[in-house]
Amino acid sequence: MKKIDRETVQRILDAADIVEVVSDFVHLKRRGSSYLGLCPFHNERTPSFSVSKSKNICKCFSCGKGGSPVNFIMEHEQMSYYEALRYLARKYNIEIKEHEMSDKEREEESERESMLAVNDFALKHFEKNLQETDDGRDIGLSYFLDRGINEASIKKFRLGYSLEKSNDLLNAAKSRGYNEKYLIETGLCIKTDQGRVYDRFKGRVMFPVFSISGKVIAFGGRTLKKDVAKYVNSPESLIYKKSYQLYGLYQAKQAIVKHDKCILVEGYMDVISMHQSGIENVVASSGTSLTDGQIRLIHRFTDNVTVIYDGDAAGIKASLRGIDMLLAEGLDIKVLLLPDGDDPDSFAQKHTSSELEEYIAANETDFLQFKTSILLNGVKNDPIAKSRVINDIVRSIAVIPNPITRNVYITECSRMLEIDDRIVALQVNKLFMERVGKDNLKKQQEAAAETISDIVNVEEPVKPVEAAAEVKRQPSPVDSNSRFLRAYEQGILRYVLRYGMLELCEDYDDLGNPISVKVIDYINEELKNDDLKFSNPDIEKTFEEAIKCSSLTWEEDNCKNNETLLKERESYIAAGEE
Ligand code: GTP
Ligand code: MN
Repeated sequence: MKKIDRETVQRILDAADIVEVVSDFVHLKRRGSSYLGLCPFHNERTPSFSVSKSKNICKCFSCGKGGSPVNFIMEHEQMSYYEALRYLARKYNIEIKEHEMSDKEREEESERESMLAVNDFALKHFEKNLQETDDGRDIGLSYFLDRGINEASIKKFRLGYSLEKSNDLLNAAKSRGYNEKYLIETGLCIKTDQGRVYDRFKGRVMFPVFSISGKVIAFGGRTLKKDVAKYVNSPESLIYKKSYQLYGLYQAKQAIVKHDKCILVEGYMDVISMHQSGIENVVASSGTSLTDGQIRLIHRFTDNVTVIYDGDAAGIKASLRGIDMLLAEGLDIKVLLLPDGDDPDSFAQKHTSSELEEYIAANETDFLQFKTSILLNGVKNDPIAKSRVINDIVRSIAVIPNPITRNVYITECSRMLEIDDRIVALQVNKLFMERVGKDNLKKQQEAAAETISDIVNVEEPVKPVEAAAEVKRQPSPVDSNSRFLRAYEQGILRYVLRYGMLELCEDYDDLGNPISVKVIDYINEELKNDDLKFSNPDIEKTFEEAIKCSSLTWEEDNCKNNETLLKERESYIAAGEE
């Protein structure tokens, strides 16, 4: 990998806009002067990834990752510093002058880049086969056209054809200097135990799979013959982790953000046909059941998912399975059943885009209502079967993280199930606590023990219950009350002093102007609303002082501090420590 000259580096750094760079991967919403989204570096359900356009940096307040546009790309795409610069240069059309790579330099290029490069070569090779060879046109192209896929869609999804020869790609790539090793590592070619190397996808029409940033990371090849496995897909590799990819996301991501909704289908052909009829916010899980990674990927762009399944029994069953996972991730899910015998591909081919949109709008149903009505069908008079259904539904409701949404479903489902909503609520809450309990109990206990031992002024950590028991033994009720409360009041004070100046959320003043609410403001407001004061005079006094400071110099001090840190960082970078 060659160095890029200083001047060009500077031009790249100047051009890169953090909001634009991050937006290619994260759905950002404007919050006052900055932007907020779900952090791409860790699993979260409420956004804590903040992007500042004016400072041109991003940061996750939860996991701490972020930085400049270059840092972001390095971390997100797992690139080196120079690879990230190259990425940004391409994005902003900044030319980097360099000569043809020598064999040695090619060797030195990272494994990843080499694999991506050979995939890119294969992509173009398959496209060329499809358009420019007799076999490609007669077999591959005519297949796509017969299935109603037009030229524009073929170009958009970069569809191709792999010739019916054992080593067409192998030879073409090798003659262009690509290393056989990477053809094998990407799975484009297979090496037998005897050492023979041949093309994996021979005689298939090709569907390239793009990463979210538009690199070819894998292929799906569909046979045109009858008696072989319909699809062959690239194996997992350094650059292709199946459970973190969705077919079509690269082409769909802008439409997903625009419509604030993602439509989930099963196959390559479904995605392409839907696009062609004007519905572009579509992705496919490619036959396998949804994974956590794929769900997180969707959630970075929207909260709303509509799952479309074929109208047959298998389709319905499949739709019930994976969906609790989507609920648990906090997504709003709708289900759309197609008329029996249709899949999204055939349905989209038969209808105009407005018919399609109307059909979706009119027929998509809330997932839990859908599940309830499907499961209840035919069991109404069978109490045992019905109670099984109720338990199943209750289990689904209990995975929903948002308490308000959970409640809406409790009401709605108890109506459909014709049972008292208090009973549903009781059972949901029990399961919810069990689940949360399993995940968090240990963590919470540890944290609580730590906080309490941290804030209580005694040698032994005191648990609230024990403190309460002690209250009873105390002679003076006023003193003991104050002593009992001390642990909690100190806890509040600790939040005020440690985190008081951080922005908690945004609110609106009486005139509707956005104002930022700091942790300390929030605590102060809540205390005032409930007409509460600290019972310990020293804590009350400290709190009052903190309130005074917060309205005067905290903000300023915080800014100054940030500036100093940024300057220091720049000087380190200038000194070549980056
Ligand atoms: P068509 O039959 O051409 O309409 O393909 P399709 O893309 O609609 O596929 P289908 O609905 O039959 O299957 C859904 C997805 O499952 C496909 O897009 C593939 O990703 C995957 N799939 C289907 N068949 C196979 C197979 O034989 N092997 C593997 N590995 N994946 C398959
Ligand atoms: Mn199909």
